[in-house]
Amino acid sequence: MRTLQEVAREASTCTRCRLQGGRTQVVFGVGNPDADVMFVGEGPGFHEDKQGEPFVGAAGQLLNRMLGEIGLARQDVYIGNVVKCRPPGNRDPLPDEIEACTPWLVEQISLIQPAIVVTLGNFATRFILGKQVSISRVRGQTFPWRGRIVLPTFHPAAILHGGGESSRQFQQLREDFALIRSTLEEHEARRETAPGEPLLVGDEEQLELF
Ligand code: URA
Repeated sequence: MRTLQEVAREASTCTRCRLQGGRTQVVFGVGNPDADVMFVGEGPGFHEDKQGEPFVGAAGQLLNRMLGEIGLARQDVYIGNVVKCRPPGNRDPLPDEIEACTPWLVEQISLIQPAIVVTLGNFATRFILGKQVSISRVRGQTFPWRGRIVLPTFHPAAILHGGGESSRQFQQLREDFALIRSTLEEHEARRETAPGEPLLVGDEEQLELF
């Protein structure tokens, strides 16, 4: 099996979709390759494209702050995106771009093996859950997914472009990060007492409910 570094090296010259034409560089991902928690955003923006690292702009500052509130730092978790190259003008990634790029994300997840996948916003949540869900309906809940837990929450940029810190969404983001913390603690406790057993056992078909 390839290492994450080897996959990143291969991805750095990716030409699988039109986004290659506008990028400064591929923004593969950052963080702990053995992380228990992996965050998945939408795609690099201006600053990420320039620096080659996900979530380093304003949304990233908010993400760092929320991580800090639950006692985590960027280097404790892994942070990636649905698409690895910046869509021009920060437009939404198109379906064929997502389809071309997500094998990289699937490979990242299978190498990192995070217990908890936190999907930030609609694009990441829809890709991972494989359903046209709306983030506001599924956030703040945990879903079983391939032996892992998926925990959807708002994209930090949505908070910044929405009502900011006084908004209900910001309060909900806080609640969701508290849920990340408690789910991680449960996972750590379970690892001690029942190693190898999934934390959340459930029927993935229940996702049809949404
Ligand atoms: N928004 C994202 O979805 N990803 C980033 O890396 C930065 C902003």
